[in-house]
Amino acid sequence: MSRVVTLAHYYTQPEIQQMADKVGDSLELSLFARDAQADIIVFAGVRFMAETAKILNPQATVVLPDRGSTCSLVTQTDVAALQRWREQHADHVHVSYINSSAEHKALSDWIVTSRNVDDIIAHLYAEGKKVIFSPDRNMGAYLNFQHGYDMPLWSAVCEVHDKFNQQALDEAFAAVPGARYLIAHPESPLPVLQLADYVGSTSGMLNWVRNYAYEPDAVIFVATEDGILYNMRLARPDLRIEQAPIYAGCQCNQCPYMKMNTIEAVKRAQQGQGEVIDYLSPAQMDAARLPIERMLAFSE
Ligand code: 13P
Ligand code: SF4
Repeated sequence: MSRVVTLAHYYTQPEIQQMADKVGDSLELSLFARDAQADIIVFAGVRFMAETAKILNPQATVVLPDRGSTCSLVTQTDVAALQRWREQHADHVHVSYINSSAEHKALSDWIVTSRNVDDIIAHLYAEGKKVIFSPDRNMGAYLNFQHGYDMPLWSAVCEVHDKFNQQALDEAFAAVPGARYLIAHPESPLPVLQLADYVGSTSGMLNWVRNYAYEPDAVIFVATEDGILYNMRLARPDLRIEQAPIYAGCQCNQCPYMKMNTIEAVKRAQQGQGEVIDYLSPAQMDAARLPIERMLAFSE
């Protein structure tokens, strides 16, 4: 009998999360995948997450339920151009967000997630290093703004978070008579992050909501993919939690790639059918593993 472990990112639909052995953000799922005693790891997330699981647990068969589950941060990054950019900054440390392909990771010195990016870059600056950051321009711009860094940035965006905008938020705030808060994922544009009361990873935002202890009737706007609202409302059914609008009247902001994880596709993947991550060579996996392990050693 094959041992099958199913992982689901917070952005998948509630019914997919209910089928999973572990639900989490990208850092939690990477750690879980690395330590999983499994023959088959079904990764209900997107391709870069399944690739990371394979790199950290190469003995396991890692299956992505739908081969179309990519991420705009990956598709907007041409790896040959990235390599040239890196060469132009040969005296810099290249820090890459985990939302990147295995090839991209292999061209990186450190991998970070939205949970540890602040601490890792602060650590590098404290050591006197010069840093370049890829691929998420919004996240990099926020770090530069917040800490006064001067990191050259790669220019890709999350097509979902990049849609949040200040004007729609100003309108939504104006319609709230009492207290209101905004919590946001750092893939959102800088003007949105500057309005936020808390900026952090999906797990960070979930913890913020769990520990919320201010006005009980406040409206909490959440600028991230709408899958996490399910977890937030489960954690705090007493609170009014709303998705941040992307334009007046539209509350929907869904990642099309995460939503490709349908019940049928996940069930098929649990039988070993789907996109098996078997195309990375041992040398590619070794090269990509180094910067990931550097991050994990720093974070654990
Ligand atoms: P987290 O690292 O917060 O899980 O985010 C992953 C992601 O894809 C956000 O869009
Ligand atoms: Fe990529 Fe954005 Fe989807 Fe996250 S929400 S997987 S960053 S496209």
